[in-house]
Amino acid sequence: MAPGSAPADPTRMHAFTDETEAIVDLVLDYSRRRMLSEDTPLDKPFSPAELNRLAGRTIDEQGIGARRALAIFEHVLAPACITTDHPQYLSFIPIAPTNAASAFDLVVSASAIYGGSWLEGSGAVHAENEVLRWLSNEFGLPEGSGGVFVQGGTLGNLSALVAAREAARARLAETDPAASAPRWKVVCSAEAHSSIASAARVMDVDIVKVSPGPDGQLRGNAVRDALEEHGASVFAVVATGGSTNFGIVDDVASIAALKDDYDFWLHIDGAYGLAAMLSPLARDRFEGVGRADSVIVDPHKWLFAPFDACALIYRDPNRGRAAHTQHAEYLDTLTETTEWSPSDYAIHLTRRPRGLPMWFSLATYGGGAYREAIGSSLQLAQDIAAEIRRRPGFSLVRDPQLSVVVFERDGWTREQYAAWSAKLLDDQLAFVTPSSHLGRPNTRFAIVNPLTTFEQLVAILDTME
Ligand SMILES: Cc1ncc(COP(=O)(O)O)c(C=O)c1O
Repeated sequence: MAPGSAPADPTRMHAFTDETEAIVDLVLDYSRRRMLSEDTPLDKPFSPAELNRLAGRTIDEQGIGARRALAIFEHVLAPACITTDHPQYLSFIPIAPTNAASAFDLVVSASAIYGGSWLEGSGAVHAENEVLRWLSNEFGLPEGSGGVFVQGGTLGNLSALVAAREAARARLAETDPAASAPRWKVVCSAEAHSSIASAARVMDVDIVKVSPGPDGQLRGNAVRDALEEHGASVFAVVATGGSTNFGIVDDVASIAALKDDYDFWLHIDGAYGLAAMLSPLARDRFEGVGRADSVIVDPHKWLFAPFDACALIYRDPNRGRAAHTQHAEYLDTLTETTEWSPSDYAIHLTRRPRGLPMWFSLATYGGGAYREAIGSSLQLAQDIAAEIRRRPGFSLVRDPQLSVVVFERDGWTREQYAAWSAKLLDDQLAFVTPSSHLGRPNTRFAIVNPLTTFEQLVAILDTME
């Protein structure tokens, strides 16, 4: 405190005052405008130097006040963030939260609910569990399956694989207590998501990459060869329910059938694609998912929830709990009960009840609305694939199975794709990044937003003529 100045009020930031009310009004007003806006631009990244210049210094000892901070956010920082729910954002895997889900995210933030334990957040946990039960039912998992919403697919895959290894360790200890543990291995497709390799690194286990067929699908016979070669050191097989690059679904039925002959944990990485099981247009592709020991799907991808949420579901939740419950004296009151505490089912302790926006949206609109919305993207992918097939100078890299369409402009180099993609964003027409397959450059439309139209996609193709 400067000599002579009045002491600051330590309750200023928490007490209900006129200042508090003004801050809440400002923030809600901005949020309302953003959520109800129909023409939020795509926007684009700025350089650090530009942002330094435009935003200036925002943090000092006195504070710059909410009005100024929000103005800087609205006019400088937000426009430097690409609008990931824009219908013409077609890169990576986009996001398309429903209006109800986005709006309810504000309620979650306003409510200071702790989502880690039943004791503290039973109402929220109950609602999240209803969503998880609804999803497990859609995926054909048995009654009693359950899990937790974690931050993202990477953490979901890691948590599932840690539970799988724990189960393998327990089985070994039971069947052959004198045996020393093998160097554990996880089998997956060479086209599996990078988060599987990341999980293997974190867990210090080996990864056995099996070649999929030329169509990108991993099949049971190739997995069988790996199981024969690596034997009981394989603690898990990961099948992908919608690869990120292509949206290809592995042949889960033939992989799951191997469980009749081999003892392994089947994990389905459906972070992007498992949502398509909700639609009759794609459900058949996922036969066998109901035999999985664990699955993940990201509501922040194709289940229309805001960032960030991954639903991790175990066939036998006790397996998850055995692997993940943290023990500490101060936690005994939570863990020495039979209550369902979400913290027990993944690598985390404190957690936001991040499944609630999806719960509110699903309760508001009903499952049928989800089926329709997902089906519209599946159909659009087929329609634009047909357009690409018929356009001279364009070719599909693979036939789309879900809602990712990968294609080449014949003869284009990596540099041409990069320059075209940068111009598309500069012109604020679309965000479509270059990609590649087996060293050949290409580009892709990843479609999850029901507001994306055939005409918008055709207009993008026209820029490549
Ligand atoms: C198939 C698949 N698995 C895992 C992930 C990782 O999910 P997250 O980005 O939520 O960590 C992704 C992300 O795109 C994915 O497509």
